[in-house]
Amino acid sequence: MLSLDLNETTMLHVQWPLPYATNALDPTISAATIAVHYGKHHKGYVDALNELIAGTELTMLSLEELIAETAGDPASVAIFNNAAQSWNHAFYWRSLRPKGGGEPPLALKQRIEASFGSLDACKKKLAAAATSQFGSGWVWLVLDADELKVIRTSNAETPLTMRMKPLLAIDVWEHAYYLDYQNSRLDYVNAVLDNKINWGFAATNLE
Ligand code: FE2
Repeated sequence: MLSLDLNETTMLHVQWPLPYATNALDPTISAATIAVHYGKHHKGYVDALNELIAGTELTMLSLEELIAETAGDPASVAIFNNAAQSWNHAFYWRSLRPKGGGEPPLALKQRIEASFGSLDACKKKLAAAATSQFGSGWVWLVLDADELKVIRTSNAETPLTMRMKPLLAIDVWEHAYYLDYQNSRLDYVNAVLDNKINWGFAATNLE
């Protein structure tokens, strides 16, 4: 998340620009979904975060520092949730691309095959994680120590607080797919994995 210096002591978090047009992921993810998801939900988290930290010393922190500072603190749940959701969404948009899917770059593909056996097995594991996540949350491809893993997180939880390096995120909150797929989270995730997942972004994060 970009941070904008307003003056020497106050930083306002700014919603990252969407890296493509709102209709660029259609029909996998419609422009109507992006309009609400990016324009209302993601924006809402960033706006709420700025309101929550206004006038406090927390405005001195970057988004990543804010997430680390508030994680696990019962008195800071609202700030953590909005900070983590701001970061998770910025990461999610970059985990997708208009001409996505297909084959990962070779070095990443070899890492995937070493950890999961095959690209198809990795995709199946991501899809299974999505369908088995109870309620709202996220599915991630992460680097854990030296191994690639698929993990789930609930609500706003993020691998940033788990000593894991996120490579890709798929939002499995209902607001990510309900307009396009109604209750079929599996159809949404499979369509994303086949057509829109940004393996190049994952490869960059692996470096
Ligand atoms: Fe979302």
